[in-house]
Amino acid sequence: MNALNVAVAGLGTVGREAVRLLRARRAELKERLGAELKLVAVADRGAAREAKALGLPSAVIRYKDPLDMARRAEADLFVELLGGLETPKRFALEVLGRGKALVTANKRLLAHAWPEVTGAARASGARLAFEGSVAGGIPVLRALELSFSGDRVLGVDGILNGTTNYILSRGEEGVSPADALTEAQSLGFAEKDPTMDLSGQDAAQKLSVLAGLVTGGWLKPGTFPVTGIESVSARDLSFARERLSMAVRLVGSLRFSGKPGSPAVEASVAPTMVPMGHPLAAVRRQYNALLVHTASAGDLMFYGKGAGAGPTASAVVADVFVLARDIRGGIPAAASTARRLALTSPDHAVSSYYLRLEVLDRPGALARIADALADAGVSIAAIHQDKAVGGRSVPVMIVTHATPRGRFERARRRIMSLAAVKPSHCAMRMLA
Ligand SMILES: NC(=O)c1ccc[n+]([C@@H]2O[C@H](COP(=O)([O-])OP(=O)(O)OC[C@H]3O[C@@H](n4cnc5c(N)ncnc54)[C@H](OP(=O)(O)O)[C@@H]3O)[C@@H](O)[C@H]2O)c1
Repeated sequence: MNALNVAVAGLGTVGREAVRLLRARRAELKERLGAELKLVAVADRGAAREAKALGLPSAVIRYKDPLDMARRAEADLFVELLGGLETPKRFALEVLGRGKALVTANKRLLAHAWPEVTGAARASGARLAFEGSVAGGIPVLRALELSFSGDRVLGVDGILNGTTNYILSRGEEGVSPADALTEAQSLGFAEKDPTMDLSGQDAAQKLSVLAGLVTGGWLKPGTFPVTGIESVSARDLSFARERLSMAVRLVGSLRFSGKPGSPAVEASVAPTMVPMGHPLAAVRRQYNALLVHTASAGDLMFYGKGAGAGPTASAVVADVFVLARDIRGGIPAAASTARRLALTSPDHAVSSYYLRLEVLDRPGALARIADALADAGVSIAAIHQDKAVGGRSVPVMIVTHATPRGRFERARRRIMSLAAVKPSHCAMRMLA
C-alpha cells in the first residue's frame, strides 16, 4: 500500500488548516509512514470555492454534500470537521458502517452519540480517533488512552474552556466579564453566542468525552451537575485574590471508581477556587490544562492552547497519521467494549466552600444564616460583611470548613429560602 486515501468533510476554520497541514507536511508524513497520505476528496457547502482557495488539484473530488462523500468516496480515512450533531452523526455512522477509519474533533457528536458512534466502530472493526475534540492541540487523549496502560487513572481536573478561563483570568486583572468576553470574541476564540461556554455545557461535553475514553462507558450530558460562571462577579474574584490568595477557575472534574468491567465515575463542572500556588491557578487567558491523577505516576499536568485552527488541526492531522500507521501495520482497532457507566453522587465529596450572599440589612439575618449552616452540620471558617451597595442589602462572604457537598447544598438551599437573603448569590468549592 503506497498511498492511503484521505477525505475531509468541513472546510471551515479547522478543516482548511487541517488540509493545509496535510499538504504542507506531505513529504515528512510520507517518510515517517512509508506511504503517502493522499487527499482524494473534500466536502463542504462551499467546496469548489474553498478547494480553489486552498489550491487543491482538480483530481481532489469536491462534494457539496458530506453524506454523499461518506457514501461514495474511495478513501481509507475520513475526517469530520463539520460541527453540529445530526449531519456529523449520519456521516460518522455511514463511514464507520463501511469499515473506514474516522477522525473527528466534534465533542458534541461524541458526548451526545457516544453509544451509537463507538458501537458502529465496534461492529465493523473501524478505527476512530478524536484527539482534537478535547483541549485542542494538547495531546491528552492519546496519553490517557496509552501512556497509563500500566497505571490507573484515578481522576482528572481540567480547565477545558478557553472563553471562560479568559473571562476569569482577565477579571483578576480588573477587566469586567462583559469586556473580557468582547475581547475574546474579537481575538476569534469565543463564539458569537457564548451560552454553551458560559453555562459550563461546553466543558461538560469535553468531560463526557474524557470519561468515555477512560472507561469505555457513556457519561451522558445532563446527568451530572454543571454550573457555569454566570454567578461569579468581580467582587468574588477580588475577594478570592486579596483575602484568600486564591484564583477562580471553571474546573471539570472526574473521579473514577468501580471495578474493572463495571466502572463508576463522579463528574462535575463548577467554578472553583484554587490556591495561587496550585498548578491550575497558573493557567490564564485562553489556555487549557488537564491535571491527571494516577495511582503510580502521581499527578501530571498537560497544558496548552485548547482551541483555534492551528492547535486543533495539529491534533486532527496527528490522528490521521496514527490511524494510517495502524492501518498499514495491520494493527486492529483498539478493542472497545460497551460498558454501563455508573454515576456516583458528588454529594460525598469533601471540600471547603465559599458562599457570597446579598443580605437585607435586618436584625437577626446573619444569625439565621449561621443557624442554617449549623443545622446542616457545616461549620464556618470565616465570615466577612462588606459595605452596603447602594440599597439595603450587604454582601456577606462565608468560607466554610471542609464539609461534604451534600451538607453544604442542604445549607445553601435553606439559606436561599430566607426572606432576608436575595436570590443573587455565588457558591464555589475550594480546592486545597
Ligand atoms: N474552531 C476551533 O477552535 C475548534 C476547536 C476544537 C474542536 N473544534 C471542532 O471542530 C469542528 C469544526 O469546527 P470549525 O470551527 O472548523 O467549524 P466551522 O468554521 O463552522 O466549519 C465547518 C464547515 O463545515 C461546513 N458544513 C457544516 N455542515 C455542513 C453540511 N451539512 N453540508 C455542507 N457543509 C457543511 C460549514 O459550511 P457553512 O459555513 O456553510 O455552514 C463550514 O464550512 C467542530 O465540531 C468543532 O466543535 C473546533
